[in-house]
Amino acid sequence: MNWNSQLLANTGWSDNIVNREGKQIVADKIAAKVKDGDVLGVGSGSTVYLALFAIAQRIKNENLKIKAIPTSLEIMMTCTTLGIPLTNLITDKPDWLFDGADEVDPDQSLIKGRGGALFKEKLLIRSSPKSYIIVDDSKLVTKLGQKFPVPIEIFPGAITYVETELLKLGVTDLSLRPAKGKDGPIITENGNFLLDAHFKDIHKEMEKAIKSITGVIDSGLFIGYDFEVLVANIKV
Ligand code: A5P
Repeated sequence: MNWNSQLLANTGWSDNIVNREGKQIVADKIAAKVKDGDVLGVGSGSTVYLALFAIAQRIKNENLKIKAIPTSLEIMMTCTTLGIPLTNLITDKPDWLFDGADEVDPDQSLIKGRGGALFKEKLLIRSSPKSYIIVDDSKLVTKLGQKFPVPIEIFPGAITYVETELLKLGVTDLSLRPAKGKDGPIITENGNFLLDAHFKDIHKEMEKAIKSITGVIDSGLFIGYDFEVLVANIKV
């Protein structure tokens, strides 16, 4: 039986999709890569959201059998609404994945986590043999930290200790991410807090240095990974 849920049917992207035209270009490129039988890792964000619509169209047109491993509740609900079958990392290993990013530097290192899903995104990226990062050209920076802070997911009880240790790493500005639609801090899907940190300098060892602080679950830094980055430039 089907639930025929109006709540799910009416679930859309929660904000305006900025640079939609550019995002649609890379979303379509990702959809074209899907093969029958693929287990896809699916990141989070509006670019990924658009790619799921294009993939759902191919599933319908070509009767493709694929399964998706989502990294967030909103992406899980989008897959459900679009009729894309779901699986998880315990049952299946992804053949490849696609995900968005907030910043991409010239070495293809990334800042991610604006949407708060950085831990599951990193876990899925670590688990996948091939990762495509899909961005519009507004995400390209000459140095990480230029436009976005580094999101850091932490165990809530460790907030003061983590703050002290981050100051030693050269944090210049640190905030506890507030919730929208709820008083107080945002609580991640894993029951944790999110900090947003600006640093004097984000060097190559910074991801490891942050991760080594007790109480840190993970950060939105992805330095030195083997990504294939697809960039849409709508002027081309
Ligand atoms: C989610 O936590 C982030 O890592 C996203 O991948 C990132 O914010 C990209 O979002 P957009 O595709 O909406 O720009």
